[in-house]
Amino acid sequence: MPREISVEPIVAAFAGAPVRNGLRNRLYLAVRQAILSGRLPAGAELPSSRSLARELGVARNTVLRAYELLLAEGYLEGRGGSGTFVSERIRAPQGTMTEGAGGNGQVAVSARGKTLLAHAASSRLQGGAFMPGIPDVSHFPFAVWRRILGRYLRPEQRHLAQYGYGGYGPLKTVLAQYLGMTRMMSCTPQQVVIVNGTHQAVDLIARVLADVGDRAWMEDPGYWGARNVLQAAGLEVVAQPVDGEGLAIRPEERERPPRLIFVSPSCQYPTGAVMSLGRRLDLLEYAERHGSWVIEDDYDNEMRFHSQPIASLFGLSRSQRVIYVGTFSKVLFPGLRLAYLVVPPSLAEAFTVANAELYREGRLPEQAALAEFIDDGHFSAHIRRMRPLYRERLETLRELLSGELGTAVSFLGGHAGLHLTVQFAEPLDDVAIAASALNEGVICRPLSRYSLEASTRRSGMVLGFAPVPVERMRRPVEILLRAIGAHRRPSGQGAGG
Ligand SMILES: Cc1ncc(COP(=O)(O)O)c(C=O)c1O
Repeated sequence: MPREISVEPIVAAFAGAPVRNGLRNRLYLAVRQAILSGRLPAGAELPSSRSLARELGVARNTVLRAYELLLAEGYLEGRGGSGTFVSERIRAPQGTMTEGAGGNGQVAVSARGKTLLAHAASSRLQGGAFMPGIPDVSHFPFAVWRRILGRYLRPEQRHLAQYGYGGYGPLKTVLAQYLGMTRMMSCTPQQVVIVNGTHQAVDLIARVLADVGDRAWMEDPGYWGARNVLQAAGLEVVAQPVDGEGLAIRPEERERPPRLIFVSPSCQYPTGAVMSLGRRLDLLEYAERHGSWVIEDDYDNEMRFHSQPIASLFGLSRSQRVIYVGTFSKVLFPGLRLAYLVVPPSLAEAFTVANAELYREGRLPEQAALAEFIDDGHFSAHIRRMRPLYRERLETLRELLSGELGTAVSFLGGHAGLHLTVQFAEPLDDVAIAASALNEGVICRPLSRYSLEASTRRSGMVLGFAPVPVERMRRPVEILLRAIGAHRRPSGQGAGG
């Protein structure tokens, strides 16, 4: 009796499969999709390569190559010359499944995944006025960088194309020297751990030094990115207020010491407060007494407009309870994804091993190029070039805003960094204002969104001036002013969350 072999599910899936990657891949994806969706059930026999090729109008070889791949990946199985079948081991889930999502539209993520997604705050837009925290990359000396990097992308440097372990030595040496000179830190290259950004640094710290359920104190308002990483690592984030002297621990919270304390003492994000010496000494003493670890986020200290970079908390700590985190995202360019931790000597080995184990290291050519870039003076030259440029942009933005808004706003910080934080005198709905501005293409982050707790919530805007040249600042400011004007009425419910 002739066997019934339906080509219809494959033909239908083939018609809908992406056309861009060649016929073999298109057919492979079509059959795979038909299997995963259950339209080709386990045990179903596939048409012969000859008849399917005829049906689809493709070469028989194309079908044979697609079948070969599906056989190799276990979607199909041959039965001793009697045909090709959908593997018996594949059981399509109930209902239809499109790849990556449940059939009923629900995404099957874990509880931890849900926490992560619920707090997600990364912007899909990553450039233009007034995106906070990004430098003006158009002034980066790309030609110099290309020339240096090119030297490490050659066959004779092929060892740098391997996985890394423990970071690139000369970069760690240069960094230890640089931090000694600019941050009053005394550390060896072994204490420097190279990572792909501050987020990874915080994740590494959470995994090495804290357990799920441990408490982490976080500045509030504070850097949502670090907060989300700590929460995603299973820590209970406890908000602590911030004032003009930096972190202001609530007296009642002192009785419940946390495992981790996240601070940005040289330029509190987003208020710009520099942590006072009194608070620094108090924090270090508290951390020592209670066995807490302080995470020092020193993200944009190079861009101080009226002084040298502020000395680090790490350098002040005799008891070595501080993990210092620095990044090249603000000074050079964020896509470089290079940052570093400096850990106390007793933790150097643990962090080095954990870093290699968790994330697998690489980017050695970039690390080598960066070491040379710093050593040859290009790094300091770039900072010297950018500082006056950013300062001018900051002052222009401040003048434009205060000229129009007067006492309706006050400015927080504004002595350093790449952003200006504006606080509204009345409790305006800053989330709605940001949405209105975004409608006209201007990105600004509502200040209220930086707070976890209602009691610390302030209404305002965090404005990244760094990527906006002075001559192009007026238009986005006008858009922002229009958005503020349209919402100058108390929302009555705080400023979003
Ligand atoms: C407060 C703060 N710390 C650190 C960073 C740097 O993060 P990364 O090194 O992952 O680019 C940012 C970036 O926006 C930031 O705002």
